[in-house]
Amino acid sequence: MSSGGVPSAAATSSSQCCGQHGSRGHSARRAPPLAIHEQEVGVADTLQLEPLTEEAFVANLQQRFKRDLIYTSAGDVLVSVNPYKKLALYSLDVVEAYRTKALLSHLPPHIFALADKAHWNLRERNEEQCVVVSGESGSGKTEAARIVLQYVTVAGSGPTGAQQDPSLAPIKQVRDRLLQAGPLLEAFGNAKTHKNDNSSRFGKYLDVEFDFKGDPVGGTFTSYLLEKSRVTRQLAGERNFHIFYQLLTGADIQLLKSLKLHRNIDNYAFLRPSRPLSMETIDDKRDFQVTKKALETLGFSAEDVVQIFKVVASVLKLGNIGFTPTSNIDGTEGCTVTNDYELFEVCGLLGTNPMELTSALTQRTILAGPVLDSPSTNPAPPPPPPCGSLRGVKSGGCSSSVAGTPPSFVPSSSMSSTGSRDVYEVCEMLQHSTLARLTLADERGSSSTAGELVVADLSASEATASRDILCRALYSRLFAWLVKQVNDATRVRKYGKRKVLGIMDIYGFEVFDQNNFEQFIINFCNEKLQQAVAECTLRLRQDEMLREGIEWTPVDFFNNTPVCELIEKNNHGILAVLDEESQRGGPGGDESFLARLCHTCGSSAYFETRNCAPHSAPTDLPCNTSVPPNCFRLRHYAGTVTYNVAGFVEKNNDTLPLDLSLAMFRCEHPLLKNLFPEGNPKRTTLKRAASAGTQFKISVGALMGNLQSKTPHFIRCIKPNELKQPRIFENALVQHQVRYLCLVQTIKVRKTSFAHSESYESFLHRYKMLSPHTWPCWRGSAVEGASYLLRDLPLSSPHFAFGRTKIFIRSERTVSELEEFRRQRLEDLAASVQKMWRGYRCRQRYLLMRQSQIVIASAWRSWREWQIGKTRLFKGKKNLFCLYRVAREEYRELKRRKQIEWAVQVIQTHYLQWRRRQYLQRLCVSLPSDSPVCREWPMAAKRLADANLMLRRMHHKWRCHKYRLKFDQTARNRMREKVTASIIFKDRKASYPRSVSHPFLGDYVRLRQNVQWKKICVETNDQYVVFADIINKITRSSGKFVPILFVLSTSSMLILDQRTLQIKYRVPATEIYRLSLSPYLDDVAIFHIKASDLGKKKGDFVFHTGHVIEIVTKLFLVVQNAVGKPPEVNINTEFEANFGSQSVMFSFKCAGLPEVQPGQIKIMRKGSRMEVLV
Ligand SMILES: Nc1ncnc2c1ncn2[C@@H]1O[C@H](COP(=O)(O)OP(=O)(O)O)[C@@H](O)[C@H]1O
Ligand SMILES: [Mg+2]
Repeated sequence: MSSGGVPSAAATSSSQCCGQHGSRGHSARRAPPLAIHEQEVGVADTLQLEPLTEEAFVANLQQRFKRDLIYTSAGDVLVSVNPYKKLALYSLDVVEAYRTKALLSHLPPHIFALADKAHWNLRERNEEQCVVVSGESGSGKTEAARIVLQYVTVAGSGPTGAQQDPSLAPIKQVRDRLLQAGPLLEAFGNAKTHKNDNSSRFGKYLDVEFDFKGDPVGGTFTSYLLEKSRVTRQLAGERNFHIFYQLLTGADIQLLKSLKLHRNIDNYAFLRPSRPLSMETIDDKRDFQVTKKALETLGFSAEDVVQIFKVVASVLKLGNIGFTPTSNIDGTEGCTVTNDYELFEVCGLLGTNPMELTSALTQRTILAGPVLDSPSTNPAPPPPPPCGSLRGVKSGGCSSSVAGTPPSFVPSSSMSSTGSRDVYEVCEMLQHSTLARLTLADERGSSSTAGELVVADLSASEATASRDILCRALYSRLFAWLVKQVNDATRVRKYGKRKVLGIMDIYGFEVFDQNNFEQFIINFCNEKLQQAVAECTLRLRQDEMLREGIEWTPVDFFNNTPVCELIEKNNHGILAVLDEESQRGGPGGDESFLARLCHTCGSSAYFETRNCAPHSAPTDLPCNTSVPPNCFRLRHYAGTVTYNVAGFVEKNNDTLPLDLSLAMFRCEHPLLKNLFPEGNPKRTTLKRAASAGTQFKISVGALMGNLQSKTPHFIRCIKPNELKQPRIFENALVQHQVRYLCLVQTIKVRKTSFAHSESYESFLHRYKMLSPHTWPCWRGSAVEGASYLLRDLPLSSPHFAFGRTKIFIRSERTVSELEEFRRQRLEDLAASVQKMWRGYRCRQRYLLMRQSQIVIASAWRSWREWQIGKTRLFKGKKNLFCLYRVAREEYRELKRRKQIEWAVQVIQTHYLQWRRRQYLQRLCVSLPSDSPVCREWPMAAKRLADANLMLRRMHHKWRCHKYRLKFDQTARNRMREKVTASIIFKDRKASYPRSVSHPFLGDYVRLRQNVQWKKICVETNDQYVVFADIINKITRSSGKFVPILFVLSTSSMLILDQRTLQIKYRVPATEIYRLSLSPYLDDVAIFHIKASDLGKKKGDFVFHTGHVIEIVTKLFLVVQNAVGKPPEVNINTEFEANFGSQSVMFSFKCAGLPEVQPGQIKIMRKGSRMEVLV
């Protein structure tokens, strides 16, 4: 049914247009390879259009259309105007041109360019893609989707690749199957309508899966709601589904015979309304061969094909079955089948018993009377008008005639919905899996009571309706089964990473004179699609710029969200009202639905009925005569459509009477068990499926979700005329489409915005090799990296804008340039990698050859020597050779050992270096605290002990130094005193360790603040007190302790009365020359005074104080400062002291006497000896 000359993998010549189009209709002219470069007509990229108005845009399309340039770029969208004739735009040369050059595109806009971009993004950027084709019915969507599919399936390994390379045979098979699925599904799902001779009567979404190379590995088709009502009824001038005509005109006589069909189309009631039709564009005979080929390619066996055609033939023949009204004894109406032979033939085709099929068609099993203790939440339907007679009760679907007519039961006039509802409801309510478990009326008696199943005869019209339901169910289920089989055939069978490219070809917007449930569903789908496209091209783009802080001029556009909500809103939408009405059941459903719609949706500006105009409450209104009775009108984005509600409820319910399901399930035809699973008596679930509307709403929601999760590419198809004729361009029609597709707004948004936006991170990741600043790795922030990168490229700054988190690139051309730079750089990088690898490989080869040469040479020499030794019988010479061989072996052994030693050394050195490095690295992270008193230090291996010690010392010195740096002058002085104390006493005096932690406070009596002292010290020039405390002076005569105030100033030592502060002695520091102490724990110190006048007079002083270490240290320093040299510090157990007139020997003993407490001392004078017991 296609017409465009599009490429296909099945092509045999690279220069020919190919695909099934070659075999359908007139074949396309051979494309001159450079046809695509022809001189530009109008503006190919409408971003450049000035002024940008709707009129100018349409005029531009027209100008191009006249010259067969049907593709025009409108911002992110590709506009395609249906040429209604074959164009030489799709040859393999053109494919190749776009495949190789599209990214640096100076090529005109083309559907291949769009497909190539999607395929390239998928392959190179590893992003999932989706091509969305939209437009009115007949605008060329299906063709466009087919061209995209054909392009992307050949884009990976090239159009002819799969044919030449046998390893690509699986790819070829996948390609062929994906491409052949289209003609097959079109044969069963497309039909001629007023709008289009090959109108898709189902929605189609195809996910093509690609491997990492970009070759197709499989695909999944999803079909949406087939317009099955077409099977039994078509508008005048329209046709049924193509397959019926194809079968009748294309099948050979044997096949027709086996299907019990006649070639004459007029013989079939379901096809008759479409006659006569002059079908220039459709060649059913040839198309049948295409369909058969597609079935074969998709792996259907000959047996499967026959079974499929049997179902198709049965539908045709069922359509011929008529019913004659009869009167039952009870006065009710029944019917009989008029043309039995058709029925017999149908039974032959389906493998069933004519009786059974007859009763399934002419009778209905339903529940007699209300089920009182039903847990159903549905309100009980009002009693329907009588229209059938009860004849019996069914058990498990087998008719068993039972007398009696229960007065309470009357079957519904709308058998297709209500009858089946009853049976389903009964089963649901009673939670029974089979009818057999229901209470049988004949077990209880002849009269049926509430909750019993009874069989009712149908009137002739009801039986006809029942027949139509069966035909529609048979056909639509066969179609669903075919889609499933196609999916099985195109399922991915290869493991590995895969990416998906979706192609969406949904039915186009439709307005007919009479619009029914199908048009409502189709147009709802189009509303949703329009909403999604507007979101992506208009709203999201503008929102992004706002979010990123980029300057732009906002562009207004028509937002169709209110219409979508009006239809799909939960509880209050049209679909929700329809569902409620469908669940309620009962007669007059459609009218009641319309009334409820008026009530619920009447206030919407987009909704109108006869009783309510927009914006008005229904009750206040005069009659709105513009809307016909029984209709409601919706203001869709593409125009206003008036829908007739007749059949809405029934079609929404979409249930099949259980009698028919049971009858079909019991047929021997192998497909029917699959198509009617609910007819299986062993079936355990009888849950009713969601309504058709709800199912559709859910699947459209999922489809839109799917679209949003992928990178979209939009093709907007435009229909140039309603006559389906080439060369006719109806301005008003095109302008209307341009307006509702918001094309001018899209261009305006694109004009003020950017072609491409990408997060800084991903931009940098992709192009970092283009700048020496960012290659091989960039450690700074991504924004900075991106700006460095761009600075290093020969691109000017107006081409970019920096958002908050994203970089914006003005034109597609700049993106292409960036990609080209990247490609070239990657080539260079690949060349250097290759160079290195080749060099390495050559060197390895050379080394191997050299080694081999040595081995061969040595073997050769050995052999030659052996030969010589063998041939020459000179013994001496033989020995010489033996010696030579031994010597050579030894030499080799020596050489080997040397090498080993050398190797060991190298290894050892490296090992040690490694250990050292390890040690240092570990040390670096495990250094102890900076406190000088911290004694911790990490352990080291024995081999590194010296270095470890050295480092420890260095570290300690360093941290001491650091510690000292923190000192002020006072602290420094104190430290100096402590260090001096350590020098003098460490390891010499037992009481020293105790003093270490004790701070040298100096002025223990706060003398410096004493007023009296302040006066005294001025006189003696002793203002700077170093030490002051009350200590014991030991009397020379008896060794008694006399408390005195001992003061040490920077110039002298003073002994004062502790109460009066009267100076008893003042000894200048220069007079003190020695300080004597014992090594014990005692606190005695003797200060030796020079033998001057004072010294002669008074002699040395003996003191006892708890601060002996501090006094001695400070005195030591004072004397050192005064004299310039330190006094002698004598630490001994015996020493002499000058007591003025005599010399006394001090003797210290550590006797441990019981009378001497630890820390105390006892001093005894014995003549010239002074004994101190510690
Ligand atoms: N690119 C094209 N080249 C030639 N003819 C085309 C092209 N696109 C569409 N047509 C013609 O228009 C008809 C309707 O196109 P189709 O894709 O079935 O419309 P849609 O799917 O939108 O209802 C096709 O049968 C074909 O004859
Ligand atoms: Mg279509």
